[in-house]
Formats: sequence, structure tokens, C-alpha cells
Amino acid sequence: MIPIARPQMGDEEKELVWSAMSSGALAQGARVRELEERFADFVGVPHAVATSSGTTALHLALIGSDVGSGDEVITVPFTFFASASTVLFTGARPVFVDVDEATFNIDVAQIEAAITPRTRAILPVSLYGQPADLPAIAEIAERHGLALVEDAAQSHGAAIGDRRSGSWGVGCFSFYPTKNMTTGEGGMVTTADPAVADRARLMREHGMRVRYQHEMVGFNFRMTDIHASIGLAQLTKLPGYNARRRHIAARYDRELQGVITPQVQPGVTHVYHQYTIRVSRRDEFVDRLKEQGVGTGIYYPIPVHRQKPFLELGYGDQRFPVSERLCGEVLSIPVHPSLTDDEVETVIAAVNATAAELGPIQAAATA
Ligand SMILES: Cc1ncc(COP(=O)(O)O)c(C=O)c1O
Repeated sequence: MIPIARPQMGDEEKELVWSAMSSGALAQGARVRELEERFADFVGVPHAVATSSGTTALHLALIGSDVGSGDEVITVPFTFFASASTVLFTGARPVFVDVDEATFNIDVAQIEAAITPRTRAILPVSLYGQPADLPAIAEIAERHGLALVEDAAQSHGAAIGDRRSGSWGVGCFSFYPTKNMTTGEGGMVTTADPAVADRARLMREHGMRVRYQHEMVGFNFRMTDIHASIGLAQLTKLPGYNARRRHIAARYDRELQGVITPQVQPGVTHVYHQYTIRVSRRDEFVDRLKEQGVGTGIYYPIPVHRQKPFLELGYGDQRFPVSERLCGEVLSIPVHPSLTDDEVETVIAAVNATAAELGPIQAAATA
């Protein structure tokens, strides 16, 4: 079976992890600082704060942006749960707007209507590795005096023009094993604003600047030097990984038939954390691909406003037609950098045969 993800660990990771372990300095230390510096450079911002996960990166970015009780944060329901649950952690309330049918990212035209006097931040998600329309969102955020917190958990190295994901506002990355680069578990907050970075650092470590002197009530959201060691090796490999993902995606773009994919916007560097197609009769599609040895993933089957905790909070009556429809049609196929050319051909043949058998999806039906 060709898996939907296959994390790659090599000698470089092993050597760095072993040297960190042998040094006896295991918790947050020099390796974390080195990863922060190199990742900040990579994204093109002066500050990066390493965390224990993408979820804690989002949490710290929101707190760092002064989001708190009574505030509202505008985001999308077609995303991983943490984009919205972390807003709840701060005491604020997520306000959902639908995604754009062409890109699957936030529909910028709907943002301003959702702004109220309580809005504190806009939290777009750069889904599957394609940046949301960050220049337009940054302009709206600036005009209304709002923070821009980008969920860049899936977009390491993605860019609009020559400006990378994570540099348009406060960026939040995940280093979960299936991501474009990993630390095992881990995350990173990136920002040009020293005040946001300072607050995120403080809250990451129990509100301490000086040991055992607590300026505020914070968390333990630290990354360890063992995890940062994996990340240092992976960051070196990330450009090569992304190039291979983009190469495979270009073949899929050319050769897949009878499926719809998110449109890549002009000037955008998409890094294909996922290559996602829209299909008709998805359950059968998944079974057919499995029979032909192709693993798949569904990101995401249920929109966030329809998840149990959000139903309990009263979001159940809200309607986001594009998100709801996408949740029933999207299917991600393997695009990870360790795929061989033979495996890529197997995927293409299996998708095309299945689409031909089950019938192509109708774009117009979505309207
Ligand atoms: C869009 C999105 N946001 C947030 C997260 C949370 O990251 P983590 O799993 O590292 O906590 C993920 C990763 O799963 C994600 O894909």
C-alpha cells in the first residue's frame, strides 16, 4: 500500500539527536535556539519561538496578539479543529466565514461583513500548503486595526511572490510527523513584532523571564533539544522535500482526469502538504483506490462548526455551504517526497481508472 504520508528520518537526524542526548542537555536549550534562528531566517522574520506543537504555537500566537476573553477571531470552518479550539482556549469566540470554492482557503470577500467591535484578529489557514490571500487579508487587518494570525501549520516554505508564509502577520507552524518538515511533535511562532515574540516566550515558560520569578500565569509549551535536533536536520532538507512535492503535484496536475483540484493562485508557491482532489461517490472512490494499493486521507470530513463542542456552543444552525460540501467531497492522495516515480504512476493510473468508473465530479453542481 502506498501510504498517504511517510516521514523520512536519516543519518543526519540520528546524529544530531544522539549528540543532544549524549550532551545531557535534553530540555529547551541551545538546539532550540539554533532552530529558532534558522527558522526565522527561512521564513524571513526577525523572531521565531519554538513550541511543543502547532496547537500550542497557535495558542501562544493568539495570546501574544492580545486575544482574550470577550474577543472575536475570524477564521474558517474548513480546517483542522485546532485553528478554532485554540481561540476558545483564550476565552475568545471564533467567528466563522466560509472558504472560497476555487482555492479552499478563506473567502476574503466575506471577511469584512464578519467584523464587529469585538473582533480582535483574523486567523486564515494556508490549507494544504497554499497560502491564503495574505496580502488582501493583511490590508483588511491593518485598516480595521486587527491582528493577523496565520495558521501556517501546512505551509512551510510556501510563498506569495518572494514573501513566505508565516511572514505576513504572526505565523504558526506545526512540525507533526506528516508535515513538510517534522520535529516529532513541535511547532513555531514567527513574527516581526518583538512584543508578540516576547509575550509568546513568556507564556511558553510559566511567565518566567528570570528563573522562579513569574510575571504572569503561563504554560509549559517548550520544545526539547532532542526535538529541535530532528528539526535542524529536517530544515536543511525542507527545500528538497518541497521541490519533490511540487514536482509530483505538477505531474498530477497534468495527468489526472475527471477530478477537481483547488486552483493555485498566480504568483503563489504552493508546497503541497496535501494534494487534494474533489470526487463524486467518495466512499467508493476510497475503496477502489485501496484495492489498487493507494492510501488516501480525508482533510477534513466534518467542518469545525459541526463538531460536538461547537454544536454545544450553539454553532449548529450556522451554514457554510462551500465548507460543508467540500467536507463530503475532498480526498487527499499521496504526494510526499519519498514517493518513487513508479508509485506516482500507480497513483495516477488508479485515480484515472476510478474517476472513469465512478463518473467525473460536476463543478457546476456546487453553486
Ligand atoms: C491546519 C492545522 N492547524 C493546526 C494544526 C495543529 O498542529 P499540531 O498537530 O502540531 O498541534 C495542524 C496539524 O495537525 C493543522 O493541520
